Order: sequence, then structure tokens, then C-alpha cells
Amino acid sequence: MSRSDIDGDESTRFAGEMAGSLPGGPTPDGETPPAPDIDISKPHVARMYDYFLGGKNNYAADREAAEQVIAMFPQTRLGARANRRFLIDAVRWLAGEAGIRQFIDIGSGLPTQQNVHEVAQEIAADARVVYVDNDPLVRVHADALLATDGNTAVIEADLRDPQAILNDATLRGHLDLSRPVGLLMVAVLHFIEDFDTALASVRHLCDGLPSGSYLVISHGLAQEGRDDVEEVRKVYRRSSSSAVVRSRAEIARFFDGLTMVGPGLAHFADWSIGDAAARRRAYPDDRVVSIDDRSFLAGIPMMGGIGRIDR
Ligand SMILES: C[S@@+](CC[C@H](N)C(=O)[O-])C[C@H]1O[C@@H](n2cnc3c(N)ncnc32)[C@H](O)[C@@H]1O
Repeated sequence: MSRSDIDGDESTRFAGEMAGSLPGGPTPDGETPPAPDIDISKPHVARMYDYFLGGKNNYAADREAAEQVIAMFPQTRLGARANRRFLIDAVRWLAGEAGIRQFIDIGSGLPTQQNVHEVAQEIAADARVVYVDNDPLVRVHADALLATDGNTAVIEADLRDPQAILNDATLRGHLDLSRPVGLLMVAVLHFIEDFDTALASVRHLCDGLPSGSYLVISHGLAQEGRDDVEEVRKVYRRSSSSAVVRSRAEIARFFDGLTMVGPGLAHFADWSIGDAAARRRAYPDDRVVSIDDRSFLAGIPMMGGIGRIDR
């Protein structure tokens, strides 16, 4: 696959498919919020990410902020798609090889293509998923998407209050927390600026899950010599959430005490799990573009990993 395959035709096709799959469809000019409690006057990180992925659930303020990020980091769109690739491969491995049947997806984002419940339920129809996000628009769209799926629920909650997530009545009614859970925190911890707060949340949530559960994390990686990351952070400071990148050592600390599986914590260019070629054969209709040429991923400052909770 060449770079133009990724950034060109494939990207356009992907964006078109996304637009068709999202509730609400394209936003017209003269945009109005889809619900009274949705603030579209300032950028929201969920909607900026939707824009990076080629979705249509974003507004002028989101697009403007997202374009500022892209201007400084042109690989951002590819990075967002590489992140989805990581998420999908991780969920397939958890539902397949690891036999996980329950997922908590924190910082789930706006519904897109190949959402976690769709990926997991393709492998195990009885897989149950609880989506958690602190952006009210995620709940609005997820409610619409999930209205007919009894195995999936969405709650509006903040990762910085992990006990509220564990205590949530919808979550408790939906999942059996005495059985293993796949805990997904994909591209969300870098929206918690204070490291101790982020670490405490991860620990608290892991402590609330039984042995045999898994933690999945992807996270923005600090790069030596990229001082312009501060400019990107300024854009995010004006949005719904500030953002931060962390060193490999800091990201690794989120997995302290867990048993790493696959390649451990790795740069996206070096991460894969299970038999990737067999998975690709098993999912010929996979609509998220495959990023076969990993050399393209080398320039994307993201790391990911999966750890198992063994007690
Ligand atoms: C970049 S998106 C990631 C979406 C999805 N996990 C993925 O990787 O494709 C980050 C999401 O995290 C959510 N988020 C940010 N801070 C959060 C917090 N403190 N608690 C819960 N969700 C948060 C945002 O609203 C957004 O939907």
C-alpha cells in the first residue's frame, strides 16, 4: 500500500462511508446544536476526532481547531485512523483469543464505523459493551445508535471520577463485574493533564475488576525536539479538554502490576497482536483501511498496549 492509498482515495471513501453511517447525517450550514445542552460554540475533542476520521458530526468551531492541529501535525488524520486500527485489533483479540465477553470503553467517542460492540459482537454475539464518555453529544448519538441493541449501553461519566463509573447503576445492571472485563482507555488518558490523576483513575478502575480482566491503552507520545507540541496544546486548551503527551516511561506506568500481552507497550509502528494476517483474511470486508505498510506509522507519535490483571 502506498501513502497515496492511505491519504487519497481510501480516505475519501472512508469519509463517505462514515457520513452515511452516522446518525444525524451531514451538518448543514447555519449549524444548530442537536440538543439544548450541546455547546457548539467551542471545539470539543470528540468532535475534532470525528473530523480527523472524516465524520460529519462536527461543527465550525471543531473543524477550525482540528485544521489548526492538522496544519502543525499533518499526520493527525492518519494517526486517528491508526488509532482505530489499534482499537479494532485489540477488541478482536480480546473477544477472540482472550474470550472476553464484557467491555467498558471509556472515552468511547462519537459513534463511527466498526464501533467496539459491532467488532466484539461479530465474534461473540452475546458480547456486552458499556460506553462511557463525558461529552453529552456522545450520549445523544450513542443512544440513537444503540436503541435496538440490548447488549450495549452508554453512560455519561468522567474518567476522573472512577468510582462513579464503577457504581453506575446502568453499568452494574449491564455487566457482571465478578467476571473478566476488557477495560478500554484508547486515546483518552492524554486528555487528563495531571499525571497523578490519570494514574489514580486507571488504578482505581483496574482494582475494581476481577483477575483475568484486560486493560487496553493508547496514548500520545512525547517526541524529542517537537517544541511545537506546545502550540497544539494551546489549541486543545481552548477546547472541551486540555491535552498532554507523555514519555514512554510515564505511559508504561499505567500498566504497573499488570502482565503485558503481545509486544507489550509499543509504538504503533511496532504493535500487533495475535495472527494479524489471519484476522485480515477473516475480515475481508473490514472497512477501516488496513495500514499494512508500518513504515507510515513510524511518524505517528502514539503508543499502545494491552495488560492483563492477574491476582
Ligand atoms: C480521541 S477520542 C477517542 C475515541 C475512541 N476511544 C477511539 O480511540 O477511537 C477521546 C474521547 O475521550 C473523551 N474524553 C475526554 N476526556 C474525558 C474524561 N475525562 N472522561 C471521559 N471521557 C473523556 C472525549 O469526549 C472523546 O470522546
